[in-house]
Order: sequence, then C-alpha cells, then structure tokens
Amino acid sequence: MTRKVSKAIFPVAGLGTRFLPATKSIPKEIMTLVDRPLIQYAIDEARAAGIEEFIFVTSRGKGALEDYFDHAHELEANLTRAGKKDLLAVLQATNMDSGAIAYVRQHKALGLGHAVWCASRLIGDEPFAVLLPDDVIAAEKPCLQQMVEAYAETGGNMVAAMEVPAEKASSYGVLDIREDMGALVSVKGMVEKPKASEAPSNLAVIGRYILSSGVLRNLEAKQQGAGGEIQLTDAIAKEIATSDNVYGYRFRGQRFDCGSKAGFLQATVAFGLARPELRDEFQQFLEEMTTMRKAAE
Ligand code: UTP
Repeated sequence: MTRKVSKAIFPVAGLGTRFLPATKSIPKEIMTLVDRPLIQYAIDEARAAGIEEFIFVTSRGKGALEDYFDHAHELEANLTRAGKKDLLAVLQATNMDSGAIAYVRQHKALGLGHAVWCASRLIGDEPFAVLLPDDVIAAEKPCLQQMVEAYAETGGNMVAAMEVPAEKASSYGVLDIREDMGALVSVKGMVEKPKASEAPSNLAVIGRYILSSGVLRNLEAKQQGAGGEIQLTDAIAKEIATSDNVYGYRFRGQRFDCGSKAGFLQATVAFGLARPELRDEFQQFLEEMTTMRKAAE
C-alpha cells in the first residue's frame, strides 16, 4: 500500500529573469493566462489530485503572491450586493481554507533542489508532490491526478516526462531508461541539462513530481550540479542508487513552458481559444493577423 500524497510544494522563489522588466515588481507566478494567474492553474491541478496542504517556497518580492490567497471579503460583499453571482463564484473558487497554506522562505536562489529542501520540515517523512507553476499543462484529466493514480501502483518516486526533440534535450533533465512500459518507464539514471551528444534519451522531465522523503535527505548535502545550482534532478537520481524506485510517467496532455516568452504566448493562444466566450472573436483575429503577415512577406 502506498501512502496518500496530501502535501505539495510550489517552488516560486526563482528570479524570473526571462520576464524582466515585468518581474521587477510582479512575481512570474501572478502573471495571467487569459484571466487566471499561473499559480491558480497549479493550485487547481493539485486540488484535483487530492492535495490538502499547499507549501509555497517564496522569496523577497513575492508579497503579491501571498496576498493573492487572502479572501477578498470587501470584493465578495460588493459582488453579493450587486447580485453578480457568476463573478462571486469565480472569486470564491480561489479561496483556500485557513491552515491549508504554508509559506517558507528561500533566502537565496540556489536552485530548484534547494528550494524544495527548504520545505523539508513541513514535509517530514511523507511522500509529497512538487509542482512548478510555470509549467502549465492542458489535459482532460489533470496531470498530477494521472500521476497520483499511477503512483498508487508503483510507490517510490515519479517524475512527469515528455518526448522532446534531440536538440532541445540540453534544456531539461533527461531520463536514462531501464525499461519502457508505455506510459510508465523505469529509470536507471537522470542527467540535468546534458550536452546534446550525451543525452541518454529524448525523454525529458517537466515540472511535476511525486517524491519520497529520501530525496529531501539527499538534498541535505547541498551539492551543486549543472549551472552551479543545487539540482532536484541530482537528488532524485541518487534515489536510483539507494532505492532503485524511480519512474518517469508520460502524461496525457499538452505542456506549455510559461517560464519562456514563446511558451507563455503559445499558452495564451491555446487557453484563449479554449474559452467558449472568447473563441470566435479571438480565432477571427488570429486568422486576420496571419493573413496580414503573409501579405506583408
Ligand atoms: P527557473 O529555472 O524557471 O528559474 O526555475 P526562474 O528564476 O524562475 O526563471 P528565469 O530562468 O530567471 O527566467 C524553475 C522553478 O524553480 C523555482 C522557480 O521559481 C520556478 O518555479 N526556483 C528556481 C526556486 O524556487 N528557487 C531557485 O533557487 C530556483
């Protein structure tokens, strides 16, 4: 029997330099896809997967993110008085229960592994999920829910994985596959940002994980890896040596890298077109833009 995954870590302490100057004052995770901040997509996905405790690893300048989770009593009262039930429902759906959220501070951006380690005391000895809010995944069944279901069979450690073109592998953590079982692969190694010629496969890790507390113990060593950062990938790879229980999971869905400008724009188009109230006008606009661009070429 595997233990229930009820805690999730949201590392949001990165500097977000690819979105400067916006990220001078706005946390990247508050930037909006259509009308919802990136963090709301991650929270909704975690809730759908049965997560009950939400742990944010934050840093200086992320106050707007913490404020976002306060209940907006005045706004709710105004909408109630005005009879705007639909908007009230949208607002109330973002409310979090008292005690469900915890914030810990990462004092220096030493890397994703270090950010996850900062939450160790709140995790204790339980399995936990990690969600990177800048990876937004459009899926019929939310990605973490798919993983929690697969994890109920495997236990151990699981990372979300997707095929990437060979020339892109050097931007990701890449899996060295022991056995490919379809959606699930068992893993015999993991390399963070390998050179294109040294990538062990084209199966890349993206920002959803279910991990055991052993990974937190591995992070204790605070060993620097690729790019001089303390890498989560390295700490998971160490688990292969000790427990031999690490899996990749090919999720069903489309992942957008909202940590990059191109990915964020692509997600905006995809999520805009998925909205019934926007679809027709937006699609017409996109078609006109394409026609105009072609004519100008
Ligand atoms: P990124 O590699 O996207 O870094 O981090 P970043 O700082 O957010 O953005 P750029 O590259 O400067 O534009 C991946 C995830 O890990 C978190 C980030 O907040 C993001 O969710 N992270 C990264 C931390 O919490 N702490 C760190 O030290 C590094």
